[in-house]
Amino acid sequence: MIRFEDKVVIITGAGSGIGEATAKRFSQEGAIVVLAGRDTDKLHCVFSELSSEKALVIQTDVTDRESVKNMVDETVRHFGRIDILVNNAGLYAVGDLLNISEEEANAVLATNFNGVLNCSYFALPHLLKSKGCIVNNASISGLGGDWGGAHYCASKGAVVNLTRAMALDYGSQGVRVNAVCPGLVLTPMVARLDEETLESFDSRISLKRPGQPSEVAAAIAFLASEDASFINGVNLPVDGGLTASNGQPNFN
Ligand SMILES: NC(=O)c1ccc[n+]([C@@H]2O[C@H](COP(=O)([O-])OP(=O)(O)OC[C@H]3O[C@@H](n4cnc5c(N)ncnc54)[C@H](O)[C@@H]3O)[C@@H](O)[C@H]2O)c1
Repeated sequence: MIRFEDKVVIITGAGSGIGEATAKRFSQEGAIVVLAGRDTDKLHCVFSELSSEKALVIQTDVTDRESVKNMVDETVRHFGRIDILVNNAGLYAVGDLLNISEEEANAVLATNFNGVLNCSYFALPHLLKSKGCIVNNASISGLGGDWGGAHYCASKGAVVNLTRAMALDYGSQGVRVNAVCPGLVLTPMVARLDEETLESFDSRISLKRPGQPSEVAAAIAFLASEDASFINGVNLPVDGGLTASNGQPNFN
């Protein structure tokens, strides 16, 4: 499938995990891919696997408005347009409200929510011109609560509802805004989970396994493509069926 020939796509947090898989997926489908993130070593590693004329690394901290403005300006200077923004960069921090440092709490909210606001704010004028779209990487933690992850859940819940509100505001102007809500996906973000914890997820996931980054990338590409031309404001679970449950235990 080549659905994005010469479309210009910005992917934040493109140096690892779902962002890396998404960059590769868009590149395989013909897109010009801007790899944005803080760690240029990781970004250059991904870049080296893509076609060099159709990719660019831009060091970006999504929490910093100047840095995000530069990401957008540099993209337009190089490629003349922006067609798709994938707001993927994110952080996890463990801890309920009373058991998280102020620094970590602020970083989670600044990255996961303000980061999406910042990137959307600076990219939108260009997306309005190109009739492009935004795909946010939220989480099933934005659709319901987790134990011991209040700030993460709050940040992702904010992205879920921002997705709906922006879909309303910009749909009539030709810009669609959607989100994926992954469940457990094997990336560096979940490397801290031990075997026992990973196994305990299987009792909740109807497909009985965690997701792979490429499976989320495929859903992001779908939402960004013309195949999803009548889809606007959805938060699509990509979770192996975890949220199909109402939460009651399996006693069968
Ligand atoms: N892995 C999962 O189980 C899972 C589940 C639901 C949602 N998600 C979401 O998927 C997205 C990608 O996470 P991942 O699982 O691939 O983990 P990851 O840690 O591999 O990727 C996150 C990326 O974001 C980058 N990043 C962090 N702060 C940044 C900042 N201020 N500016 C720019 N880049 C920054 C990191 O360097 C990293 O490359 C995140 O938004 C995460 O919340 C992941």
